[in-house]
Amino acid sequence: MIDFHVEPSIVRQAKVTVPGDKSISHRALILGSLAAGATEISGFLASEDCLATLTAFRNMGVRIEQHDDVTLTVNGVGLHGLTPPAKTLDLGNSGTAMRLMAGVLCGQSFDTTLTGDESLSKRPMRRAITPLEQMGARITSDDGKPPLVIHGGHRLNAIDYSLPVASAQVKSCILLAALYAKGRTVVFEPAVTRDHTERMLAAMGVDIQSAAGRISIEGRQTLTGTRIQVPADLSSAAFVMLAAILADDADVLITNVGVNPTRTGVIDILRALGADVSLENRQTLGHEPVADIRVRSSTLRGGRVDPALVSLAIDEFPVLFVAAAAAEGKTTFTGIGELRVKESDRIAAMASGLRTLGIAIEESDDGAIITGGSFSGGVVESLADHRIAMAFAVAGSVATGPVTVRDVDNVQTSFPGFSEIMSTLGVSVCAEQDA
Ligand code: S3P
Repeated sequence: MIDFHVEPSIVRQAKVTVPGDKSISHRALILGSLAAGATEISGFLASEDCLATLTAFRNMGVRIEQHDDVTLTVNGVGLHGLTPPAKTLDLGNSGTAMRLMAGVLCGQSFDTTLTGDESLSKRPMRRAITPLEQMGARITSDDGKPPLVIHGGHRLNAIDYSLPVASAQVKSCILLAALYAKGRTVVFEPAVTRDHTERMLAAMGVDIQSAAGRISIEGRQTLTGTRIQVPADLSSAAFVMLAAILADDADVLITNVGVNPTRTGVIDILRALGADVSLENRQTLGHEPVADIRVRSSTLRGGRVDPALVSLAIDEFPVLFVAAAAAEGKTTFTGIGELRVKESDRIAAMASGLRTLGIAIEESDDGAIITGGSFSGGVVESLADHRIAMAFAVAGSVATGPVTVRDVDNVQTSFPGFSEIMSTLGVSVCAEQDA
């Protein structure tokens, strides 16, 4: 088991690049595999989660050439060209891989079994199983949890489906199954969620419409291989952003980051707390907007976080809790119950670690109130959750003493090179094998 040892640090001027977007990398592999012809991917995130998806598709007969860590060619086999895997597909820590692949696999003629690690094995899959069964799929689970056995050979029909929770994973799962269904599938979302699947399908020539929380797609269309340039992951950039904001005299530029408006809630929330964040050099990379993000040291003031931004910042709440803990006064978060079913129960994980570092936090089922203060040193548990680990590393950079974050191996699932990038910033994050 690896721990992070973080020392109070000084961040000044820096220009950094963070690794590729995890959501877009998964989708590039999945849609590229189902397309006719080759998909050339650059900027790919070679993290454990995305490599689990890559291995799964190789195990179903897709030839994926890795030219280097970030450049791949996926030789698509078409919607009906996957072959039965010889073994169970192990998707590690990745909820995205499991939910999106469930949608693809229920359209196949063969059976597949999907498993994952201890964290993924506890995560709710009923939210994907229910709509897929309405489409005609047959899926066996362990009372709504993995492993999932997806029984192939069932005809799928289009559905109209209102998502009970705002979830891009479930929306994407249904849209992928819809490719195999007869007729037009319509998905209604209760709040806007990331739309990378819709954008990539459109870039591959699929007729898909999306407006005002209604996404509609006709089944049995052909996907055409394309070129996908994966931008840097805003969810990873968020840790670098907060380290710069909390420092005394920093001015940090993070280059080429995805700023799709369905993802930028973290920027809006940080700005509302008083952070100096600006976007420069905006452009469109393929089918996704990107920009360089400039962040300068700022004094944060607590407030009420707009619940309308929750689905647009869903992965950034660990780092936003750290921002709130460093802000003057109280910050109130509401409508964040989904955090309890992420890689860990993120409200509980953050509350426990923040208290260890001397910060007052009150939890409710779907919210938290944090009273800003200063972080003491201490030893905090990440609960093997990558984003909890990285959020506490950022807290450690401005703590009054050294902070140890335990069990951080899973940082590799989304942000390989995290400690190295933090050190180019001036933050000393030392990854060491637990004694
Ligand atoms: C993701 C969607 C989000 C997010 C996850 C990645 C995706 O999950 O938390 O890390 O790639 O679609 P939900 O859509 O289930 O909230």
